[in-house]
Amino acid sequence: MKETLNQRLGRLWPALVATALVLVMACAPALAAKKSKSSAPAGPNYQEALNSAYAKFKDLQEGKNADYIPALAEVDPKIFGIALVTTDGRVFTSGDIGSMVSIQSISKVFTMAKVMEEQGPDAILKNMGVDATGQAFNSIVAIEQYKGSEMNAMVNPGAITTTSMVSGGSREEIWNKILGTYADFAGRPLTVNQEVFKSEAETNQRNQAIAMLMYAYGHIKENPLQACDIYTEQCAVNVNAKDLAEMAATLANGGKNPVTGKQCMKAENVPEVLAVMATAGLYDDSGKWLYATGLPAKSGVGGGILAVSPGKFGIAVISPPLDAAGNSIRGQLAARFLSRRLGLDLFASVPQR
Ligand code: DON
Repeated sequence: MKETLNQRLGRLWPALVATALVLVMACAPALAAKKSKSSAPAGPNYQEALNSAYAKFKDLQEGKNADYIPALAEVDPKIFGIALVTTDGRVFTSGDIGSMVSIQSISKVFTMAKVMEEQGPDAILKNMGVDATGQAFNSIVAIEQYKGSEMNAMVNPGAITTTSMVSGGSREEIWNKILGTYADFAGRPLTVNQEVFKSEAETNQRNQAIAMLMYAYGHIKENPLQACDIYTEQCAVNVNAKDLAEMAATLANGGKNPVTGKQCMKAENVPEVLAVMATAGLYDDSGKWLYATGLPAKSGVGGGILAVSPGKFGIAVISPPLDAAGNSIRGQLAARFLSRRLGLDLFASVPQR
């Protein structure tokens, strides 16, 4: 008599169950290993990547210290330090970590963050804008083009205006807020390099003119020269590569310092800050930088540069010799090397399966 399908399944059922059991037992160790691997990825060897970047660019001698601020010309051009801080709070360094440089324009990022905290994200957008100028960081033509609008908080006119927007009843109160903000991001108290502050304060007539123009066009509401002076002091804050990497890692970590655990700014304001860094963080060379690295970054004429890999880590380099746009040469090369070695380019995409 012909066997029905049900009869045949009933006869084969015990054999099927036994086969499935054998398969599950054979694969269990492999599945367990895979699970533990994905919950604690080994990840790239960060220390090795930093050491390689240091070794590769240590002897490079291109570029020149900034000298339009006389004290910066005196800084040792051999200083070269690299740091990486992960969003889970691990710190890696290579090279000169004890040495410090003045933060200069990198400060603009954190004053912008402070103003966004106080006045909301649109305050910057409405006052000076979020567009690249395509001009040098201290361009007066860029102010004249749109009467101080259609620019950004990373170039000097926008940055001095941003400093003027920090609230406070006295210069001291405003200053303490700014320095306190930087210290929170860096995870330690910071101090001003008085020699650099004095040197720039004596030679910053161009920035004073910029502040007066931004006042004339109504972007700075009051005390333009005080704003310029506080801006000059904020640029003279001393930092090492690890400080800058921790500041960058705080931005990478939704505004929460991953080492101290302090929430330094609202997570929802971070993308706007990173967007302006991507657009204008390296001034008229921002396009070239983004093309090469795919990372938001900010440079300073003291020789510092920091880059943010959102959700992953902050990277920073200090090395005083600069290129013509005012960006650290070894800083750019080392950060670009790390972006490539660690696969950080935000625009690198693979199709979704
Ligand atoms: O205002 C200035 O000229 C300096 N205190 C800062 C300029 C700066 O860092 C430009 N960055 N690359």
